[in-house]
Amino acid sequence: MESPLTPARTLTDLSAWRAQWLAARDDPDGYWLERARALISWRTPPTRGCEGDFWSVEEAPLRWFADGRLNVSYQCLDRHLPARAAQTALIWEADEPGRHRHVTYAELHAQVCAAARGLERLGVEPGDRVIIYMGMTPEAVVAMLACARVGAVHSVVFGGFSADALRDRVLDSGAAVIITQDEGRRGGRPVPLKAAVDAALAGSPAAAAQVRAVVVSARVGDEGRAGPAWAWVEGRDVPWAALVRDDAPHEARAFEAERPLFILYTSGSTGKPKGLLHTSGGYITYAAHTHREVFGLREGDVYACVADVGWVTGHSYIVYGPLANGATTLLFESTPLYPDPGRYWRLVETHRVNILYTAPTAIRALMAEGDSWPARYDLRSLRTLGTVGEPINPEAWRWYHDVVGGGRCAVVDTWWQTETGGVCIAPIAHVTPTPPGAATRPLPGIAPVLLSPEGRLLHGPAEGHLCLEQPWPGQARTVWGDHARFVSTYFRQHPGRYFTGDGCRRDARGDHWVTGRVDDVLNVAGHRVGTAELEAALTLDRRVVEAAVVGYPHPLKGQGVCAYVVLAAGADLSAESLAGLQATVRGAIGAHAKLDRVLAVPGLPKTRSGKVMRRILRKVAEGALEDLGDLSTLADPGVVEAVVAAGRG
Ligand code: PRX
Repeated sequence: MESPLTPARTLTDLSAWRAQWLAARDDPDGYWLERARALISWRTPPTRGCEGDFWSVEEAPLRWFADGRLNVSYQCLDRHLPARAAQTALIWEADEPGRHRHVTYAELHAQVCAAARGLERLGVEPGDRVIIYMGMTPEAVVAMLACARVGAVHSVVFGGFSADALRDRVLDSGAAVIITQDEGRRGGRPVPLKAAVDAALAGSPAAAAQVRAVVVSARVGDEGRAGPAWAWVEGRDVPWAALVRDDAPHEARAFEAERPLFILYTSGSTGKPKGLLHTSGGYITYAAHTHREVFGLREGDVYACVADVGWVTGHSYIVYGPLANGATTLLFESTPLYPDPGRYWRLVETHRVNILYTAPTAIRALMAEGDSWPARYDLRSLRTLGTVGEPINPEAWRWYHDVVGGGRCAVVDTWWQTETGGVCIAPIAHVTPTPPGAATRPLPGIAPVLLSPEGRLLHGPAEGHLCLEQPWPGQARTVWGDHARFVSTYFRQHPGRYFTGDGCRRDARGDHWVTGRVDDVLNVAGHRVGTAELEAALTLDRRVVEAAVVGYPHPLKGQGVCAYVVLAAGADLSAESLAGLQATVRGAIGAHAKLDRVLAVPGLPKTRSGKVMRRILRKVAEGALEDLGDLSTLADPGVVEAVVAAGRG
């Protein structure tokens, strides 16, 4: 018989949600200390809740559970061993259809212990940074947990990022060790991971001097060898087998709750990505709590989040939340369309998946392939369907609910961000009523408010800037190496509140409908890309004198990328030039940052003080050519005609 999840879920009906929301508002320390003690195996349980507030964050980062001590990898592994040693911790579904592997808690624990010993042999000490640049393999999870075990700070860089983007993150984090793979596999195609690491280090003497070891896990080739697309650098490169060669037990030392756990880079409104820093005790409490409550986790569930560990969703809801809860979590290396649009549904049938978590972009792409694909598979194991990363349109929501979920599954549209560490606004599966397309209500401990851009608090049904008023344990503490940027990005425009950068509508029932970014960040297929990053990349190209990038509604990707470029004398937008521009952007950022439209213009519309008027560019990209608003502050109104003409063309 199925044994109950321990400790039991708490948000089992609406009155529990309401009571907890009020309790967490009135006594946040009491609420979160109870959650932290119930869910986490501390070496020293905390007695202190939150220190600091959104006014004092400028002087010092917030702290949670500061007198508690724990080891995050112990929480995810060791403490489960008495009951779960033989239970599957990870199901690895490889890119190649039909290939998969189960890893038990005992096996995962042994591998993490061995890798932790290996990191220590490489001289990795608590507080050191380790870059993880891998595909979706069990070794990536082992690498993350091994860092956590020895108190090192991992920074997972999504495998789609280019060598240049990787090098920036290596330098910014100051990492001395990189863990990578010979090659990744995605959709039947190779992902040149080791080659990109070599290029990143070869292109920068500073990075090459900083990185003393590159650990290479063999996904396609032989351990410790060069392959067709990558070299082997003696003295620097370490085969994965050498890292994990010592499989003696490894004692998980306890660290203070505010010990940095990971840095995750994300796009902001400047050209330089920021490394959000998450710490240990608060983060793991929040990840474990939200994972079990929002999805309605049950003992014995097979839980599949088909995101990538390179994004925050993979951190909180493939690795840390599920493993902290002792769940069976699936690791999906492939894509929704490989080898055909039945891939997800076959995955559900094969592994009897109970909870599936994906992004609206994938849902829209699969919906476009028709109902016959899900109809071919047995999806009756599904109970909860989650979405994340971008607003979901009601049509896609209904398809997910009706066709995939057969009308019986809860659909949870979960709003959160890299910065928030875990889900903040979302329905509780099978508890909260769910109007299609709404993220609905805040979780206990989350206090959303809407403000006008000028900072006026909006009451009742309204639309405005989404801010959170009250600290919660899972939130990022700072931007790595730049606390001033953390403060100015999130706490300056609306002082005393955390500003999410999102717009949101609240209806008369109190449901939240997140409408998208209100800053210069795009959300393309659920991935954040900064317009400033794209512009900086474009102007690396000799053909481009100046560039401005805006988003526009895209039927599949949510937002598409539209670039306005002022070309250098003699340059044109021939097919060859366009391919060259795409290659420049791919080289600077990665393949996910593709330009959907490129328009050549003689100049950019600017104010007299030289600021690009993006509002006009956005309108033209959206096709709203008639209603461009007030043009009186433009330095050269004539430019607008040329922009409109380019938009028409
Ligand atoms: O604009 C919001 C959108 O994704 C942004 C966060 O992106 P990132 O940090 O990459 O994290 C993505 C995974 C958590 C938010 O500022 N977003 C995320 N979830 C939703 C969403 N927009 C609408 N509805 C959502 N459920």
